[in-house]
Amino acid sequence: MYRVAVIKGDGIGVEVTNAAMEVMRAVTDKIDFVEFEGGIEIFKKFGVPIKEEDLEEIKKMDAVLFGATSTPFNVPNYKSLILTLRKELNLYANLRIIPDLWRDREIYIVRENSEGLYSGEYEVDNSRVVDFRVITREGAEKIARFAIELAKDRNFKEITFVHKANVLRGDRFFRKIVLSLAEREGIKVNEKIVDSFTIELVRNPWQHKIILSENLFGDILSDLASIHAKSIGVIPSGNYGEEIALFEPIHGSAPDIAGKGIANPIGAILSGAMLLDYLGLDGWVIWNAVKNYVKKGNLTPDLGGNAMTVDVVNGIISEIDDQEIDPIEWDELWVDEIRINTLPTLFMK
Ligand code: IPM
Ligand code: MG
Repeated sequence: MYRVAVIKGDGIGVEVTNAAMEVMRAVTDKIDFVEFEGGIEIFKKFGVPIKEEDLEEIKKMDAVLFGATSTPFNVPNYKSLILTLRKELNLYANLRIIPDLWRDREIYIVRENSEGLYSGEYEVDNSRVVDFRVITREGAEKIARFAIELAKDRNFKEITFVHKANVLRGDRFFRKIVLSLAEREGIKVNEKIVDSFTIELVRNPWQHKIILSENLFGDILSDLASIHAKSIGVIPSGNYGEEIALFEPIHGSAPDIAGKGIANPIGAILSGAMLLDYLGLDGWVIWNAVKNYVKKGNLTPDLGGNAMTVDVVNGIISEIDDQEIDPIEWDELWVDEIRINTLPTLFMK
């Protein structure tokens, strides 16, 4: 049995995480889900976004499934729960898969997840506030390796590396590391300067299979790229560390629609698929079921339909049931189909 920590968060985080667990349970009975609380309510009571003892428990788990939380900027000293988890669990790589579910293609955005302007290092006095944009050799090497291994696994010959090395010293350092590692591994680097790249990412996105960038650029580029998935509600992500990984849809807690039962659960469900892959279970079953469902099923309002969350969940589960494959055929299928959406062993526990 695997033990997976679940932090549903607030707003639609609760609904979509429940949906993801239901779908995962339809695929495997090898997971015990253990729930933890975190976020603004915990902060008000304990002064931290997650209790220390919970964090220690979570560190012993196999993986984390995360919903969404709001990060208010008007609560003094509040520290974002997701940023705290990324830091405490050493989740250095953030992989966001921007899927075109209708045409079977995707863009992988690999974002450095613990340094850059989100390093948490700063200097403040009365007249000046400085946030340090930290790039370390170790951090740059680890994230470059992550992107390059992903490219090799997918049989992609190149990665797109987005930076501002013409201006920023940190990116010059990062660039040297990416170029030398890529050369050693036989992967071509398509270099792009971040500001002009935004135009290309809007106009001509699909030629970029893997986009590698530092933390803030990756944060912004992944939201921008989400327009190509038709709704931010369908985009899953994994935050990977050396010991553990955390999976979350990239959308926020959407308090305006929370509790109405109309949240799109697909981003959370696909995050569940990425989690299964990480544990060496059958994430591909979920990917296929989602792709089959969206082509014919009723969708939630963000995708122009009028389905409720529960309709989408039930539709996807019935697609899973339809995929019951004779075990003898599995070997052949593996070659043509299954690998497409499973993650390389590097990203497995
Ligand atoms: C994200 C979010 C977070 C981030 C916020 C909530 C701190 O925007 O996951 O992209 O910027 O990393
Ligand atoms: Mg963001």
